[in-house]
Amino acid sequence: MFDELAVRYDAWYDSAHGQVLFDLELACLRPLLPPGPGPRLEVGVGSGRFAAALGLEVGIDPTQAPLRLAAGRAVAVVQGAGERLPFGDRTFGAVVVVATLCFADDPAALLDEARRVLVPSGRFVAGIVPLDSAWGRRYEAQGRAGHPFYRGARFLTLTEHRRMLADAGFTVIGACSTLTRSPSENPVEEDAQDGVVPGAGFAALQARPQPPP
Ligand SMILES: C[S@@+](CC[C@H](N)C(=O)[O-])C[C@H]1O[C@@H](n2cnc3c(N)ncnc32)[C@H](O)[C@@H]1O
Repeated sequence: MFDELAVRYDAWYDSAHGQVLFDLELACLRPLLPPGPGPRLEVGVGSGRFAAALGLEVGIDPTQAPLRLAAGRAVAVVQGAGERLPFGDRTFGAVVVVATLCFADDPAALLDEARRVLVPSGRFVAGIVPLDSAWGRRYEAQGRAGHPFYRGARFLTLTEHRRMLADAGFTVIGACSTLTRSPSENPVEEDAQDGVVPGAGFAALQARPQPPP
């Protein structure tokens, strides 16, 4: 799906609506990225908009067409799935996923792999659209109605994300929220809010790997 629709998906970020959402989500992700040493990886990098804006050096995605766009944004790209990362243990200072956990065949395995490739002091940052928000419910309904992107997604609630992160050996230590207005209104700039805001349409969670027992 993302292969045939890569250019269309990427171009949406240039629409008036897409630009506002991109800026809001970026403002939510940015403060959660560790300042520490790289390299930093985005799993499900797609066309590389977020990786480029966040200065992430490496991106991986199973789909080839968006990777070509990401390479054009100076992201070092690798084709592959998040469930089987072709990187050694303890390689990255940060692993980021944006709007991707809901598309992975096995999000729990993707999280296990993210933890494996992080250095012990590294940070995992997930940008998610919680199902328990008006935005999540809207996207899920659009998916059920056959929307070309969302029909392949399985949205999860915030609680489900937290549980999956804990099961993968992560402790959530920070969060940021945005998109607090209804998706039926035109999106407008708003300040990212520290922490988890119930009902917000986009949340970024920052987690650290738990030390081995
Ligand atoms: C909604 S797009 C998000 C792309 C990018 N992170 C962004 O926000 O613009 C979801 C991406 O997840 C990728 N994806 C799907 N399954 C995946 C998996 N198992 N591992 C890694 N990426 C995957 C898709 O190919 C697609 O590029």
